[in-house]
Amino acid sequence: DDDDDEVLSPTDLSELLAEGTKEAHDRAENCQFVKDFLRGRIKRELFKRGTAALYFVYSAMEEEIEKNKDHHHIAPIYFPAELHRREALARDLEYFYGEDWENQISLTAGTKPYVDRIHEVGEKDPVLLVAHSYTRYMGDLSGGQILKKVAQRALKLPSTGEGLNFYQFEGIHSHKGFKQLYRSRMNELELDAETKDRIVEESNRAFGFNMMVFTELEELGKTIKEEVQDAGF
Ligand code: HEM
Repeated sequence: DDDDDEVLSPTDLSELLAEGTKEAHDRAENCQFVKDFLRGRIKRELFKRGTAALYFVYSAMEEEIEKNKDHHHIAPIYFPAELHRREALARDLEYFYGEDWENQISLTAGTKPYVDRIHEVGEKDPVLLVAHSYTRYMGDLSGGQILKKVAQRALKLPSTGEGLNFYQFEGIHSHKGFKQLYRSRMNELELDAETKDRIVEESNRAFGFNMMVFTELEELGKTIKEEVQDAGF
């Protein structure tokens, strides 16, 4: 609406988020687990555990998004067919662990605070789900494609995409185009400056939770005896 009295926000939420999480993104990209992964130094067992961790995170996130899908701050960024990853992760876990996958995975100490926070936010402060969605889905649509190629090569996964459904967004044809749409939807949310700040702060928390997951995997990796393929990059 073009109400003349409307005070337009000086900065768009998408810009505030990109700018306000830059340092956290740098830290995430440069933590040991991620650096090893990017070099193709990833043990199959750790990749499986990481996939399980993501399953718990996305289950929580998508459960809370579903509950709040009619909320005026969530409805514009509700894209279940395009974004939601729970089903894809379940298929990946079935590939890695077999039919009985659900009994073989568990929520670890490094992932639980992330999952708890998502539920807390979904129940008490749903606008902050914007931060959690942004942090994961925009990341998956960006760096996620690099990770897919690395994992496929390093773990010698089939070219059919089995085990890598998480990285494959079947409902999205142009990642760039979808990210633009998602950014514009975030920018159209009616939010005051204080709430925008809180969303940026929550996104930084989400980056921190992701780092906790990586750190736990890194530590676990030290205890697992497994040949790491020299993927040649
Ligand atoms: C954006 C790479 C890790 C969240 C990006 C972009 C790249 C990238 C190239 C820019 C895309 C663009 O300009 O459109 C990577 C690489 C990573 C990594 C190589 C290391 C494996 C992460 C992690 C998270 C994350 C761990 C959080 C869980 C994001 C987000 C954006 C993004 C939210 C969108 C930034 C924005 O434009 O607002 N990433 N990333 N990334 N990444 Fe990552």
